[in-house]
Amino acid sequence: MSTDGVNQSRRRILLGATAAMGAVGAGFVVTPFVKSWNPSAKAKAAGAPVTADLSKLEPGQQMVVEWRGKPVWVVRRTPEALADLKKVAGDLRDPESNESVQPDFAKNEYRSIKPEYAILVGICTHLGCSPTYRPEVAPADLGQNWRGGFFCPCHGSTYDMAGRVYKGVPAPINLEVPPYKYLSDGVVLIGEA
Ligand code: FES
Repeated sequence: MSTDGVNQSRRRILLGATAAMGAVGAGFVVTPFVKSWNPSAKAKAAGAPVTADLSKLEPGQQMVVEWRGKPVWVVRRTPEALADLKKVAGDLRDPESNESVQPDFAKNEYRSIKPEYAILVGICTHLGCSPTYRPEVAPADLGQNWRGGFFCPCHGSTYDMAGRVYKGVPAPINLEVPPYKYLSDGVVLIGEA
């Protein structure tokens, strides 16, 4: 056995120890950053409520916020769109929202607290695609009877401007309304009723 071999082993041990110290040192540097952002990321994943500022939303416009990793739509409905909700009721599978998921406050003809603002989870109740906002009346591809709403490109499900599903499409129930409440006239908290 040569002294060379012993020295080689010692060298490997020392290098290993140095690498371990390096890793611990790096850990000390990184930890404060992890601590500063981790709780909010965790809270988000656990479903912490999010706020949406509606003050810049014009009539007819849609905004999207993320809650629990899902898109939540806020749509400012025009007076015409609100009037059309009654007209399409006969073409809907569940116009009274008896089988859909929504807080009690949204089990009404507008499916919302304030008629003007629809707040909906933007996930198709068929297989989970995200439908497209189609507020136009009678566009060529959706037909003369279309009064505005949401179209799912995956398998063609259609919903009205309150997220109520039409008859004869694959989606079984209306879009979900999340819990929410108004903090002021123009600010809504989504995720907490
Ligand atoms: S996922 Fe929307 S129609 Fe199938």
